[in-house]
Amino acid sequence: MNGDLQVVDDVPGAFAREFITAFEQRPGEEFDIALSGGETARACYERLASEGTASVDWLVVNFFWGDERCVPPDHQDSNERMGREALLERVGAANAVYPMRCDESLDAYQLRLGEVGQLDLVHLGMGADGHTASLFPGSAALSADPGQLVAFNEDPSGRNKHPRMTLTYTGIARARLVVFTVSGEEKREAMEAVYAGEDLPAARVNAGRVLWLVDRAAAPRPR
Ligand code: 6PG
Repeated sequence: MNGDLQVVDDVPGAFAREFITAFEQRPGEEFDIALSGGETARACYERLASEGTASVDWLVVNFFWGDERCVPPDHQDSNERMGREALLERVGAANAVYPMRCDESLDAYQLRLGEVGQLDLVHLGMGADGHTASLFPGSAALSADPGQLVAFNEDPSGRNKHPRMTLTYTGIARARLVVFTVSGEEKREAMEAVYAGEDLPAARVNAGRVLWLVDRAAAPRPR
């Protein structure tokens, strides 16, 4: 697998610490993060909102998303809605917020990401099927052109609802740091497959540094 694996008891707490450490490494700079969707990410953002306030100047943070479901921003399945509820609304003003909008062209998001250059942190989860962001097994976006930073995509298995917009591997690779957060017994099989080098979408992620924060329930068992 690409990256470093850390087995932790408290994934949200470990994520908050990694975010704060990464933020503190960029003094005086804007900080660009791409948020994840999912319930593990929600728990991470709620913890960050409660623990990060003293250390993070949110007014220099620019929020992007790593993927989005093509639903209205107030829809219960919207990653933007989750990010706003779990983090943005709790920490007050940010420098800028760039939600993914499926009704806008990919070019708009591609250009915005292009202006940023490197993202400081891309936060990713992993599904039980080994998907990450909205890069699903057997989906078209796995083989997007190398120059494409974002793509529309959907899950050919139908397990994951809604058409999606997602960062591609190229878009993710622009990150200085990717932090995966994986928790729960239902992720162990996929985690073991990634750890064993199987070609699941999450295993293909590369970036400046890739860090996996995995709880004991999801951690690969020594073979
Ligand atoms: C999405 C997410 C997705 C998520 C994983 C894990 O939009 O669905 O970005 O990649 O991170 O499915 O989700 P859970 O933490 O809810 O298991």
